[in-house]
Amino acid sequence: MGLFSPIVEPSGLRSQFPVLERVAYLNAGTDGPLSARAATAARAELERELAEGRAMAHFERRKELSDGLREACARALGADAADVSLTTCTTEGMGHVVMGLDLRPGDELLTSDEEHPGLLGALAAAREIRGATVREVPLEQIAEQVGPATRLVACSHVGWVSGSLAPAGLAEVEVPVLLDGAQGLGAIDVDVTKLGCDAYAGAGQKWLCGPDGSGSLWTSPELRERLAVSRRGYGNLEEANDGLEAVLHVDGRRFDAPSLSAESLACSLAAAEVLEEFGWPAAWERGVALAARLAETLAERGRTPAPRGATTLVSFPSEDPAAERELLASGGVVVRNIPGRQWLRASVGAWNDEGDLERLVGSLAT
Ligand SMILES: Cc1ncc(COP(=O)(O)O)c(C=O)c1O
Repeated sequence: MGLFSPIVEPSGLRSQFPVLERVAYLNAGTDGPLSARAATAARAELERELAEGRAMAHFERRKELSDGLREACARALGADAADVSLTTCTTEGMGHVVMGLDLRPGDELLTSDEEHPGLLGALAAAREIRGATVREVPLEQIAEQVGPATRLVACSHVGWVSGSLAPAGLAEVEVPVLLDGAQGLGAIDVDVTKLGCDAYAGAGQKWLCGPDGSGSLWTSPELRERLAVSRRGYGNLEEANDGLEAVLHVDGRRFDAPSLSAESLACSLAAAEVLEEFGWPAAWERGVALAARLAETLAERGRTPAPRGATTLVSFPSEDPAAERELLASGGVVVRNIPGRQWLRASVGAWNDEGDLERLVGSLAT
């Protein structure tokens, strides 16, 4: 199947990703594989800029690409495009939410004990700058742990350490809920309405297979109007030339990154379109099913994975994770190790196949 034929079969999706011709790439939890179409789109923008320069039409093109990408992210989130902000990464979006709240000393931020530095950084900043307290509890108990001082619950939708899932009870809590969706968006079925959260921060470079420096933030209109926005400029003001009287966009654009390049936007958009053409439900189902199969096979081989949910991450024990990661890489199998734990983590996407999984399992030291 050619690179630009419609993608229907898993083999057609797989053929979009040149890296898979060489290696069993199981590392989308860090950075997803880049598709040929995404790279071509980025190159085309740069060629246009080379040939035409970067004047009015260039800025209109950036706007057109932003609009397209916002729509594409909204489809992956089950959301309205008006509630989506285009960011540079998950971390940026989480910072907007945490630091946008009117937090005072004594206010509590409730989180779990398996969070990524991208979220912990924002919580630590709120503790240092606003005097808020941060309480860490097990992820599975987080919904019941909300107390009278809790102003925000902030935790992973899918935990990065072992692929655990946030509890469904979070939909019922009465304070705002921010989900770190770095390992959720594009990987599993994300429907922000069903999740009952108030904000969902996602990465572009992971399960959407976009470039580094891409991400999105979904916010409910109710939460958005409560969040202060300290960074203002051309990107998020209605009429930037109104000087000091300029007002922020009411919709998700108020948290847009101040400057995103045409090549990055085009790369992100083409990357998402490849997955959309295969179909989001089909991509989610296939990734989760392949990951479950890998977990079973690892257990049969005496490498029982860490407790996980129905996600696309599989973490399994290794005596020397850094050394085994390097050994696997030298044999063409790409996974990562988890800092501070005796675990390797495989990230399984719809672009992978049984052959990738067999190559991983077959390469493990026994
Ligand atoms: C759960 C989680 N949160 C946040 C991040 C940081 O993502 P980003 O680089 O998009 O800010 C990661 C990256 O690995 C992650 O796994």
